Amino acid sequence: MNKEILSRRKEGEFTTIKKGRENMLDTIIKNGTVVNANSTATVDIGIKDGIIVQIGDSNYFPDAKNVIDASGMEVYPGMIDSHVHINLKLGEFSTLDTFANATKAAAFGGTTTIVEFAIPYEGETPMDAFRRRSAEAENQCYVNYSFHGCFTEANIHEIQQVKELIDLGVPSIKMFTVYDDIVRINKGAIYDILKEIAANNGLALFHAENNEIITSEIAKHIEKENLSPAGHATSRPAIAEAEEVASLLALIEDTGASALFVHMSTGKTKELLEHYRKARNLPIFTEVCTHYLSLEGDVYKEKEGQLYICSPPIREQEEKEALWKMIDEGLVDVVNSDHCCYDTEQKNKYKDFFPNAPNGLPGVETRGIVYYSEGVQSGRLNRQQFAATTSTNTAKVMGMYPKKGKIDIGSDADLTIIDPASTQVITASNLHMQTDYTPFEGKEVKGRVAHTIVGGQHVVANGEFINEDFRGSFIKRTKPVN
Ligand code: URP
Ligand code: ZN
Ligand code: ZN
Ligand code: ZN
Repeated sequence: MNKEILSRRKEGEFTTIKKGRENMLDTIIKNGTVVNANSTATVDIGIKDGIIVQIGDSNYFPDAKNVIDASGMEVYPGMIDSHVHINLKLGEFSTLDTFANATKAAAFGGTTTIVEFAIPYEGETPMDAFRRRSAEAENQCYVNYSFHGCFTEANIHEIQQVKELIDLGVPSIKMFTVYDDIVRINKGAIYDILKEIAANNGLALFHAENNEIITSEIAKHIEKENLSPAGHATSRPAIAEAEEVASLLALIEDTGASALFVHMSTGKTKELLEHYRKARNLPIFTEVCTHYLSLEGDVYKEKEGQLYICSPPIREQEEKEALWKMIDEGLVDVVNSDHCCYDTEQKNKYKDFFPNAPNGLPGVETRGIVYYSEGVQSGRLNRQQFAATTSTNTAKVMGMYPKKGKIDIGSDADLTIIDPASTQVITASNLHMQTDYTPFEGKEVKGRVAHTIVGGQHVVANGEFINEDFRGSFIKRTKPVN
């Protein structure tokens, strides 16, 4: 027997549905505090076929096969991490994970979509790298996934691949201004690629540090035999980052391309970015990573300083506070992990010669909850800012909005449910990344990812992985939206 019922879609908006078997929902999430970037409400969510189909009071929803009780919990649009390296080969070292175990760790950490990098190996074109990465990821990922293209040189045979990648749903193109002889691309090539990106409505991504300053500083450190991990930070001063951002901004403005500066570690660029974003209204976006927001430069002076080597380096407290202020003022769009899964053996190999050390920190599993604890629980951010910087802005900049990044009727049912009352001490032995350490070892964190729902499938429940058969989808993306 079908019964007509009223179901509230949004405040003041009602739809009529039939409460019959054919309308049965797959899942209802009840009693949670639903946090979007611009709203917070205690409402229930109904999911069918991987899509959010009901929002409101579930007494008025059709029945569901599964009910998740989110009493006392916060329900966020599924977190997106658009800066993840999986099995990254950069010079001598390769990171240790696979698409399968990295994305499972992501799911444990509440992340429902990752964006990885298709970095060309020697002799490969950017399209070759994209095809290789796609084949490696296919049917392996426990969350949704997508790729950034990457250019390490520009020749006339490859430059048309900017358009090919964008047409295939890969609108973001990464370029590195450092890592000489591996992936660094020169300014002339950057200029050509930016023009191509602008012509095809793509997005440039920059690792921005000035290579000449860093090369010269490293040479001086070698000469003075100042080669401990602390030298890594002193050889990469914040001015190297600020100088490169300024130079790239000029090219970005001239070409009209949209661009995102990844892993910003300094407040030195604040006024410049503010000027380009606000006064000139240019589509320039920014990313900060959890480790720059939660660690300070003294980590390099510790006994195991080599474990914290990443580029740009972790900086002093004032820089950390400047980054938090930039988030609060809306000058940072996204907070990501820059996940790189090296282990202590790899990190230790050059502990007495930092210039050769592998760069990067594991973090795909910890980025959300450490940021939540340091941001929301410490009172630096409100919950809506957290939703914006972990999901909504990311979905917009990465061209996935509003399917991703929003809890609304018609959006994909990718959801992260956080229990704010649960505390935990971070330790590598409780994590699932393919490494034996975490830069957050021993850190007490307020909050825990209780449930992760990807495409309507409940994959993590009460901190346990419950859906081995589920696989995430490749997400074709479009141009960034402001
Ligand atoms: O140190 C870092 N960030 N390693 C990963 C590669 C990159 O620069 O993003
Ligand atoms: Zn980088
Ligand atoms: Zn001005
Ligand atoms: Zn990176």
